Amino acid sequence: MLIKNHWYAVEFGQQVGDRPLQVKVHGHDLVLWRSPNGTVNAQSDLCVHRGGSLAGGEVVGECVRCPYHGWRYDTEGACVEIPANRPGLPIPRKARIDTYPCVERYGFVWVFLGDLAAEQRPPLPELYGMELHTEARAEGFRAVQGEFTWQANYDRVLENAIDIAHTPFVHAGSFGNRDEPEIQDFDLEEIHDNGHLVSVSATVDLKPPLPSGIWRLIAKKERPPVNTSTGFYPPNVSLLIVRLPMGDMRLFTAAVPLDEHTTVSKFCMMRSFFTGGWADKDSHKRTLKIFREDQPTVEGQRPELLPFDLSAELHVKSDSIQLAYRRWRQEQLDKGLGLAAPTDEESRRAAAVIPSPARAAEPEMASAWVFPTVGSAAAGADA
Ligand code: FES
Ligand SMILES: [Fe+2]
Repeated sequence: MLIKNHWYAVEFGQQVGDRPLQVKVHGHDLVLWRSPNGTVNAQSDLCVHRGGSLAGGEVVGECVRCPYHGWRYDTEGACVEIPANRPGLPIPRKARIDTYPCVERYGFVWVFLGDLAAEQRPPLPELYGMELHTEARAEGFRAVQGEFTWQANYDRVLENAIDIAHTPFVHAGSFGNRDEPEIQDFDLEEIHDNGHLVSVSATVDLKPPLPSGIWRLIAKKERPPVNTSTGFYPPNVSLLIVRLPMGDMRLFTAAVPLDEHTTVSKFCMMRSFFTGGWADKDSHKRTLKIFREDQPTVEGQRPELLPFDLSAELHVKSDSIQLAYRRWRQEQLDKGLGLAAPTDEESRRAAAVIPSPARAAEPEMASAWVFPTVGSAAAGADA
């Protein structure tokens, strides 16, 4: 279930070059491409002529060209050239594709999936400490990026990332301490902006065991509690800040829902110790180890999709961040913002796209779109 009208972090900026790149979000194909002026464009990856994938085409100036018959679309989604047409033949007004607002920030490409006008959109979250290319470096942080694929629904993946109480069990082989599973009481810190929930986080002291590997070289022998913050920026980014005695570790993760069963976590792990490039490989390996420890548990959860009814699973005090996420999600569904992902059979038979702002901005042009939009699913319905 895609919650529309939000900014999704979908890809690392450095992955988007001058060749079109396909990105899947909840079963919908988007194409990302970089204009010669450096800005990234996000559009529906579905040519309105014969359904060609623009991602297989090329960037030509400020346009993307379909590989099949060469139709060329500009950054607004309007087709500006149909090579097979004789000169002077008009381009049909239906020859256009949905174009989504797109911003590159914190090393990620953020795409606004929905049809709200600019002034109604929620703000892009301020990711504290993620100013990868500016302040973070000045603060002495070093960052590595990477990704990890789960055969699991993204709600389950996101909840796992913000779950405090699983650490002593699932991560007993690394930073979890089975002898100290108790979670102290904590308050939720919620940040709102203009009526929109921007983030929910909590800070607790954890008691991990002594670290292993090269970290042991600089670890203190006596282990004080490790102050740890975790939280989420809806819809799909989570954070983990671990204040180790030797320095800070910050893990930002965008859980990108490819479809209902597959999620890719695109992560940026930052550290304020061992800031030489020589330790990058170790940092990358440690991050993947965390995901691998989580993997069997998350992929084994049933039901595969997050229950919508809060009473369908049992919650305790230490689950309050995940509950905040479920409440936020339910509010969005109650507003009718849930878009069911197409089933394989539906995708085979008909194309439907996520509505873009141009559709709402020009209602008189409603008939001038080739593909219908995915219908809003009834609030509370399962996908
Ligand atoms: S399918 Fe894209 S130009 Fe024909
Ligand atoms: Fe975990």
